[in-house]
Amino acid sequence: MAENKDMKEAVLRKTLFQSKNMAQMYSLYRDVYPDTLAPTIMDFVHAYNKVGAKLERMVEVGCGSGQAIKKFVSYFDNIIGIDISAEQIQEAEQNNPFPNVSYAVGDAYQLPFDTGSVDVVLCGEAIHFFDVDKFLREVTRVLRPQGCVAIFGYWMPVITPVGVADAIERDRLQKIGSELARKCKVGGCYMEKIKSHLTCEYKDIYEQLSSPDKVHNTDLKSDLEWNISQLLGYFNSLSPYNLYMKKKKEELERISQFSEEELKKHDINEIFRRDLKKAWNVTDQNDTDVWMKVEFGIFVVMGNRPVFN
Ligand SMILES: C[S@@+](CC[C@H](N)C(=O)[O-])C[C@H]1O[C@@H](n2cnc3c(N)ncnc32)[C@H](O)[C@@H]1O
Repeated sequence: MAENKDMKEAVLRKTLFQSKNMAQMYSLYRDVYPDTLAPTIMDFVHAYNKVGAKLERMVEVGCGSGQAIKKFVSYFDNIIGIDISAEQIQEAEQNNPFPNVSYAVGDAYQLPFDTGSVDVVLCGEAIHFFDVDKFLREVTRVLRPQGCVAIFGYWMPVITPVGVADAIERDRLQKIGSELARKCKVGGCYMEKIKSHLTCEYKDIYEQLSSPDKVHNTDLKSDLEWNISQLLGYFNSLSPYNLYMKKKKEELERISQFSEEELKKHDINEIFRRDLKKAWNVTDQNDTDVWMKVEFGIFVVMGNRPVFN
């Protein structure tokens, strides 16, 4: 079973730039949300559902392969995930065991729903790719008058090795490891606009959201235990990393220096793997045997139906 997963991972790494593989990477490595996410959002939704209407339809925009939707299945009769990528939607459909959940290819600016027909719009780790104003106008169109929107995301992980009994040593390794993870993540090709939405934890989106009542919640944390191989899987699934590697490959080809070996020397994720294992003094262990706690701070912006003049 573990061998199968390792083999699947190795095959995925090889063909990473094909987006079908990216969709599979998402379903394997982007399941980061804590169980507290859905209750936190639903408490807000219930508080602003002032007429006490039955909640029927939830939509997630930019749903990827459906990692966030899973958390909401018990709250609505009808849940629809929308994503611009046909590969992500295909991956989501293939792994969907829920009769009340369906998926469709669609655009955040032209959602395939009638005006005033949706109770809750979710947008997980995706709004930073959108034109925020255009998207929020579309949210307002599809929401029922008592409807709500919840926009959430995450940025840097804090990583702590498991099994280090001494608290001072554990803290030291956490600091070093988390700093290496930060350097690795920002090493990818991030557009400035995307980075600034994420580094301020969507505070700017909270300010832009024209809901009469709104909240910016930064209290939630992921609660994951991953090995190095899984953390690398997450880093490999990041589009700025893939863009960086694509550019690096093109650069080496331009100067006739390309080989897989040469490219590997510039691979920021491989450099991270090597430096982390050295810093944590585990170079003699397999990646799958080195475990850590991985905490992503989850930031959530919630509002009732935005108002536009
Ligand atoms: C980082 S993934 C987030 C996946 C998932 N919601 C999560 O929380 O893990 C961002 C997704 O937004 C989608 N996306 C980007 N632009 C879009 C657009 N204009 N309309 C709909 N989806 C879009 C991408 O295809 C991608 O699957």
